[in-house]
Parts: sequence; structure tokens; C-alpha cells
Amino acid sequence: MPVARGTRVVENGGIVVLTGAGISRESGLATFRDTDGIWARVRIEEVATPEAFARDPCRVQAFYNARRAQLADPALAPNAAHLALARLEREWPGEVLLVTQNVDDLHERAGSRHLLHMHGELGKARCLACGAASPWSADIEPISACPACGATGRLRPHVVWFGEMPMEMDRIDEALGRCGLFVSIGTSGSVYPAAGFVAGVRGRARTVELNLEPSEGAMLFDEAIHGPATQVVPAFVDRLLAGR
Ligand code: APR
Repeated sequence: MPVARGTRVVENGGIVVLTGAGISRESGLATFRDTDGIWARVRIEEVATPEAFARDPCRVQAFYNARRAQLADPALAPNAAHLALARLEREWPGEVLLVTQNVDDLHERAGSRHLLHMHGELGKARCLACGAASPWSADIEPISACPACGATGRLRPHVVWFGEMPMEMDRIDEALGRCGLFVSIGTSGSVYPAAGFVAGVRGRARTVELNLEPSEGAMLFDEAIHGPATQVVPAFVDRLLAGR
């Protein structure tokens, strides 16, 4: 059973929630490693490494332009799982940190505020000239100019590619170091460092996995609840808030 309010979860430093592509699946965004996932259609080496970008920037920009365009789809909306996490944050202000591997903005749209994107954000463009990451909803074109410094042709997607350092790791490590409850939602547990978070906290924090099926790290969790995120996440949040 999850550790309830007023016990070590709250007293010992709160909750860290890690999310992956599975939480956005029922909003219509593809995951990566499912049979209908992104990596079943395109190779990581072609579109998600610095070497790919150096070799064929147009191919890489086109891949991310297509994914960024999905964020502009009026039909795209946060689902019950995103909304439940935003509710948890509202009910327990200051005690919930949401760490997402996702580059979509569905957690923000659901109302989550205490949120870190460790793999970056599709809705931003990063300038190779000045380093600024600026909000960006359109395609990144060869003549696109940096909103911060004006340099043209120097913008890349503000996402973390394989072989690059994840973002916000100092703040994530600090929160993991003191949390009393670690919850992993909708991730296969196949990409580090996120896949290693549970090993770092188990024994000290209670660990719970909410996923459609057992992840690669499932055996490391105190508890595993398997099912679609839109069902298991709201039910889990209800239990936490009810103090059970
Ligand atoms: N509800 C809950 N979980 C689901 C659902 C759903 N409706 N649909 C799929 N899942 C689960 C799958 O069972 C799988 O375990 O979500 C997980 C998705 O795993 P991946 O596709 O590997 O996505 P993720 O774990 O987020 O990938 C991590 O890899 O390619 C990189 O940068 C990319 O951030 C990504 C990282």
C-alpha cells in the first residue's frame, strides 16, 4: 500500500514522480519502444544523436518539426493521468516534484507546475550561437532566427539526444536524495539515468511503478500497479489523498 499523508512520505521530503511516454499514449502521442512506437518506424541513429544532426540537419529537423506539429493539433489534450498528477500537486503543495522524460507539454497543460523536463522540450528551440532556449511552436527552418540573439540558421530542437547529458540533474538528484515516495509512470525503464532512479532510492523511499506492463526495472519496486495510465494513475492519487 502506498505510504499515506503524514507519514514518511511527507515528513521525509515528499514525492518524486517520474513519467515517460506511456502517460501520454492515451492522449494520442506514440511511445518509443512499443510495437507501434517511434523507434519501430525510424532509427535512433538517423534522428536522435548529435552525429545525425551534424550529418543531416534537415532530416533531423524534419523529424522534430513533425513531432512539434503534433503539439499544435487542437485534438491533443492532457488525459486523466496528467490531470490526476496536477491534482496531487495542488492538494499537497510543495511536496510533489514531477520529473518527466517526455518532451511534450501535456503536464503543463494539465496544470502541473513543479515540473522538470530531463530530456528537454519540443516546444522550445535552442540557439547554437548564444545557447538560449526560446519558445518555438513552428517548424525550425534553415533561415529561422534565434529570438534571443537574432542569429539565423543556428537553431536546433531543445531536446536531449542520445549521448548528450540530461537536463536538471542537480535538482533531480537533490529531490531523489530526500524523497519518501518515488512513483514511476509510463516508462519502460530502458534509458539511463531515469532507469536508475529507483535503484538509488529503494530501501529509503517507498517505490511504486504504474505502467501498462512490467518495466525492465519492475522487480526493483516495492509495489507495481499495471494497467492503462488513465485508470491506474487517478486511482493511485485518490488512494494517496485518502491517506491509505
Ligand atoms: N498506460 C501506461 N503505460 C503505458 C501505456 C498506457 N496507456 N502505453 C504504453 N505504456 C508503457 C509501455 O508499456 C512502456 O513500458 O509506457 C512505456 C513506454 O516506454 P518507452 O516507449 O520506452 O518510452 P520511455 O520509457 O518514456 O522512453 C524513455 O527513451 O527514446 C528515449 O528520449 C526518449 O524519453 C524517451 C526515453
